Amino acid sequence: MNDLNALPSDFIWGAATAAYQIEGAVAEDGRSPSIWDTFSRTPGKVANGDTGDVACDHYHRWPEDIGLMKRLGLDAYRFSIAWPRIVPGGDGPVNEAGLAFYDRLVDGLLDAGITPFATLYHWDLPQALQDRGGWTSRETSEHFAAYASAVTERLGDRVKDWATLNEPLCSAWIGHLEGAMAPGLTDLDAAVRASYHLHLGHGLAVQAVRAASPDARIGIVNNLSPIEAASEREEDIAAAVRADGHTNRWWLDPIHGRGYPEDMLDLYGAELPERPGDLDTIATPLDWIGLNYYFRQIVEADPAGRAPYARQIDPAGARHTAMGWEVHADGLEQLLMRLTDEYGARRIHVTENGSAYPDAVRADGTVDDPERVRYLEEHLAACGRAVAKGAPLAGYFAWSLMDNFEWAYGYDKRFGLVHVDYATQKRTVKGSGHRYADIIRAAREGRAGRLRIRDTWSSRG
Ligand code: IFM
Repeated sequence: MNDLNALPSDFIWGAATAAYQIEGAVAEDGRSPSIWDTFSRTPGKVANGDTGDVACDHYHRWPEDIGLMKRLGLDAYRFSIAWPRIVPGGDGPVNEAGLAFYDRLVDGLLDAGITPFATLYHWDLPQALQDRGGWTSRETSEHFAAYASAVTERLGDRVKDWATLNEPLCSAWIGHLEGAMAPGLTDLDAAVRASYHLHLGHGLAVQAVRAASPDARIGIVNNLSPIEAASEREEDIAAAVRADGHTNRWWLDPIHGRGYPEDMLDLYGAELPERPGDLDTIATPLDWIGLNYYFRQIVEADPAGRAPYARQIDPAGARHTAMGWEVHADGLEQLLMRLTDEYGARRIHVTENGSAYPDAVRADGTVDDPERVRYLEEHLAACGRAVAKGAPLAGYFAWSLMDNFEWAYGYDKRFGLVHVDYATQKRTVKGSGHRYADIIRAAREGRAGRLRIRDTWSSRG
């Protein structure tokens, strides 16, 4: 069967990027350093000592990049806005030159017939705010709302689709507990406080965006994983419940008005910096929910580890991407159904999904990436199956439009539908980009039924 047939005719076909990963131009037009400028300059934090200083030079090459989006036939482009370009001090004066860049980008997208989906925070906190406590401080939530307001006042006449935060789990847990992302802390209390203030900032920003642009459609983007216990042992089942709390429920329950999961509060032994009314603010109603999906987690108990005391194990025979992440498309279907059935989602976007592989440009100048084609098709099929079962999935954004700065992995990991030669900044549409364009074209022409994605992948092992 061709699962793509289930996707609605107005399905939004998109691709995503983020400011620090592609823009470069870190010291231009008044941009101030972010926590990622600091982190990437800290020896040993990022592979090869890579930084986002130049990245894909999108700050200057955005017209060419919009041309690539047109070649792929995208309906929509998800990008993020760099807070340090707009409010370089974190709070205080707004930088006109920073706003003007996104003005140009948005106008260019609209001229090309591509709908802008803007994310307000994709991890590049102004360093000036980190110096005052960053997300562990309540003031950061308030400053985030003020920044969101300034951006929406300027762009809200043209940008209607907004996300507040991208993957707050990474900001809080990886940035403050595991230390593998900026700001690089390893402190559970700080991580819990950061998660709370991220959520509070999200709620305040939703209200600020709505006040500035009443017809805005606003969501939040969470990275989630289906969790399975590695065995039927009681301790592994308990570990799976904890891992689910840490990865999924902590991020979904509060924004759905359910407060923070009690079992996780007990586990973290943490006191929330809560004030009256905060939980209502955090649960300010949304228009859509964003799902970033990369992998499932199969876990066993790990009493000697760190919270949530669950260690991931690799199932036998699994396929992996270059990140070492298991390829498991059914997990995307499961999460879409969970958001639908358990959280009553009314509109969902898959805001990121994609794979890194060690691509190379061949002698004839092409980039052949069959594993990424397979990954894309399998995950689109999973979307179709979820829609057929009732998931209100409205769009899919491939991660990523082009190869870019993959955080602590630097430029080593390539996720793009478009290859970037970082020495020359030459862009080359990969096989997966061509395949995505074919799928989009066929879906748009209403002949998805004839564009059969390969349902024999599974027999290829
Ligand atoms: O590159 C990241 C992105 O910034 C956030 N989601 C996951 C991607 C791949 O790791």
